[in-house]
Amino acid sequence: MLINNGCKKMLAVKFLKNTLNNPLVLASGIRGTTAASLNYMAKKGCGAVTLKSVSVEAREGHPSPVIVSNKHYIINAVGLSNPSIAATTAEIAKFKSLNSTPLIVSVFARNIYEFTQAAEMLNSSPFDLLELNLSCPNVNQEFGQPLAYSSLAVGEIVKAVKAKTATPVSAKLSAQAWNIAEIAKAAEDNGADAITAVNTISGMVIDPKMRCPILSNKIGGISGPALFPIALRCVYEIYRAVKIPIIGTGGVTTGEDAMTMIMAGATLVGVGSAVYYRGAAAFKKIAAEMADFMQQEKIVSLDEIRGRYVSN
Ligand SMILES: Cc1cc2nc3c(=O)[nH]c(=O)nc-3n(C[C@H](O)[C@H](O)[C@H](O)COP(=O)(O)O)c2cc1C
Repeated sequence: MLINNGCKKMLAVKFLKNTLNNPLVLASGIRGTTAASLNYMAKKGCGAVTLKSVSVEAREGHPSPVIVSNKHYIINAVGLSNPSIAATTAEIAKFKSLNSTPLIVSVFARNIYEFTQAAEMLNSSPFDLLELNLSCPNVNQEFGQPLAYSSLAVGEIVKAVKAKTATPVSAKLSAQAWNIAEIAKAAEDNGADAITAVNTISGMVIDPKMRCPILSNKIGGISGPALFPIALRCVYEIYRAVKIPIIGTGGVTTGEDAMTMIMAGATLVGVGSAVYYRGAAAFKKIAAEMADFMQQEKIVSLDEIRGRYVSN
């Protein structure tokens, strides 16, 4: 399971202006809420880490229960609880003083105005990529459908945010949009530097004996293994539509999952639920499995396989 220096080089990947030790990115919402938790996860072998989505106003999120899991999926309706952007900027600066791992800051907002406000509020913070969470599926009762369902909304938001920040921007999209590739293209055409695909997708669980939905919000977002083939299909479709890099996210729990995500076209691979299944050591385990796979299959670099086997 140990990765030697040769393998370390094999996993290194260029993403925008950064070179990452490996393509595995801590997905938003999984442990990364403070400088200390981001630093802890970065030291566990992430190539980059993502802050849990923050918004202009603080949010309490939904009441418990907010998460249910089994071996096939995790379903959550945390409801975007966060202490606000203003309360998080000191944590961002502190993380950057502790650790050189690239940092992605995820922001959630309900409309174009709030997204631009969020970008402006973060303008003096040191981080590497601004991820626009346009796709949370468990706050529809408050905000209506995710903005990621509309190529017009995604395009306009990306354009407005790009006008307010010098930091590269990624649009985080939803597999529930039937035309995700078209939406990714709208993001690219309006200046997005990357696409994050995908967020969780809506589902529900009912307790058969209690005869009621388990989550207080009734509906939550599905992540984990059940999401993997859906995420893979989305990355495959997006890769064929855009030139900007993709952070392929959804259900990756093993090295082979990560390798196939790259074969579908991802440059980086988001990992979230695997932390619940395999612990914080998930990153080192997945990286070691990738290195083993590459050695067995005589793959010298990730660039060699990206999008190669699934083109038209
Ligand atoms: C408990 C939990 C909280 C999440 N919170 C956020 C969030 O705040 N912002 C966001 O963009 N995605 C959030 N996500 C979605 C993940 O970032 C990721 O897109 C999704 O879980 C699919 O990846 P996975 O199957 O590897 O977990 C959350 C997921 C989980 C399980």
